[in-house]
Amino acid sequence: MQQNSPPTDVWADDRVVVGRSTIEGRGLFASDDIEKGAVVLRLGGRLVTSAELDRLIAAAGRDPDASYVDTVMIYENAHLVLPPATIVHFGNHSCDPNLWHVDSYELAARRDVRAGEELTLDYGTNSGADGFAMECRCGSAHCRGWVTSDDWRRPELQVRYKDHWTPALQQRIDRS
Ligand SMILES: C[S@@+](CC[C@H](N)C(=O)[O-])C[C@H]1O[C@@H](n2cnc3c(N)ncnc32)[C@H](O)[C@@H]1O
Repeated sequence: MQQNSPPTDVWADDRVVVGRSTIEGRGLFASDDIEKGAVVLRLGGRLVTSAELDRLIAAAGRDPDASYVDTVMIYENAHLVLPPATIVHFGNHSCDPNLWHVDSYELAARRDVRAGEELTLDYGTNSGADGFAMECRCGSAHCRGWVTSDDWRRPELQVRYKDHWTPALQQRIDRS
């Protein structure tokens, strides 16, 4: 598969702000209305292999001063590692998100968003690294309780997020 290089840094629309979340800790919020389809976040950083990612996460685990490793799977064996401490770090997961991928690196509004709403993404749409599992407390009617790197296998999600997966997961779906 042809790989597109990521931008070196993250970009966020001015309407994306950080605030206290009812899902977990801090989250991203809309400071103004956002229309369906508007691109509000562009992910950036560098692509690393699965082995490099494992090494980065292990090193961060050994260092109490290390930043959290923000990462999403873009291609098989090619994971985007975001620069430390960008605004994207505060994006929480929801099983009924109002953002989704519109290409490898861009996230757009999945529906009209009102000022004050928390901006969320379904981590299942860009998490493919072996063994990822997170207990979910998003509180949505669609909440599946856990988010895992195998969620791309779920037929209802394949339908709901048609064409809104990162290329690695879309390719897995297409081949399954
Ligand atoms: C990239 S951080 C998101 C920002 C985080 N809320 C904070 O304040 O730093 C990802 C972490 O947030 C938490 N999180 C995000 N979405 C969640 C959800 N739906 N349910 C439970 N925890 C969630 C998990 O601890 C996850 O490892």
